[in-house]
Amino acid sequence: MLALGIEGTAHTIGVGIVDERCRVLANVYDMVKPEKGGIHPREAANHHAELAAPMIRRALDAAGVSADELDVVTFSQGPGLGPCLRTVATAARALSLSLGVPLVGVNHCVSHLEIGRGLFPECEDPALLYVSGGNTQVIAYARGRYRVFGETLDIGLGNMLDKFGRELGLPFPGGPRLEKLALEGGKLLPLPYSVKGMDVAFSGMLTAALALHRRGERLEDIAFSLQEVAFAMLTEVTERAMAHVGKDEVLLGGGVARNKRLQAMVGRMAEDRGARMFVPPGELCIDNGAMIAWTGLLMHRAGVRMALEDTLVDQRFRTDEVAVTWR
Ligand code: ATP
Ligand code: FE2
Repeated sequence: MLALGIEGTAHTIGVGIVDERCRVLANVYDMVKPEKGGIHPREAANHHAELAAPMIRRALDAAGVSADELDVVTFSQGPGLGPCLRTVATAARALSLSLGVPLVGVNHCVSHLEIGRGLFPECEDPALLYVSGGNTQVIAYARGRYRVFGETLDIGLGNMLDKFGRELGLPFPGGPRLEKLALEGGKLLPLPYSVKGMDVAFSGMLTAALALHRRGERLEDIAFSLQEVAFAMLTEVTERAMAHVGKDEVLLGGGVARNKRLQAMVGRMAEDRGARMFVPPGELCIDNGAMIAWTGLLMHRAGVRMALEDTLVDQRFRTDEVAVTWR
């Protein structure tokens, strides 16, 4: 069975093709890079509209399959930016209609978890720490659904790092640049550690970090401190979620999961509890079409069928809205 997935919740359009054993036959993507400021939803949607057809072509070429070998077309139905979601849904509907194959809309957050389970067969029932630009959530399976055990109360961690980087004139995205700078830092500066119950907040940390910069603290030390404090908050919440639902596997997902310091901290926590950590390769941590294809394939195989009117996009599509019938 072959599934093609189109991802387009935010600044990345991605097309992936996977088979029924979660072998990734193709995974191509392209990201809008704003000249300055954040992403404009309309501009990102135009970018996705221009690239949808050529990227589908590229993915088919990379996989060495022809379009009529596809069994199901899948797309990211939400959560995300409205114009981007609608553009990608339109492309997916057109492809599915023209090929006469079923169409499955996929929850983006759920797919970050499913791709990890698919890639690592020994990772059966993990708690997912999903940290990207727009999202920061701890997700785990309980009673037929993926539940959000903790999340950001304001901005995603990646957005916080990118905003800080932008204020300081670093090239976009800020996250990876700050990771490099942090290696040269070592002085732990005071930043608010905001964990509220199982939730976290980052906007106060951004304000405080900018104030440290104005006071003349070294950028390397601020980058170091941002990572230490933010990642410690996430590690704490992830550990509590794992303890609460009795999971002994932790999976990382989202662009920030590429960060080696975050991996080290969560890995250490897992080791201390006798649990195991799984980190997908970078191109499957960031937003990508392969994870959408794989999740759609699982849903399709479990008998999920969607009429055209079920494929409306949902900007606020919640993780726990999805009835998980495939596990
Ligand atoms: P979403 O998944 O919420 O739609 P997104 O499109 O921003 O958001 P990704 O492509 O998963 O998500 O991740 C991009 C984010 O990851 C950016 O904020 C970027 O700064 C951050 N990032 C990437 N690499 C690193 C790194 N090594 N360290 C820290 N942050 C990183
Ligand atoms: Fe994502």
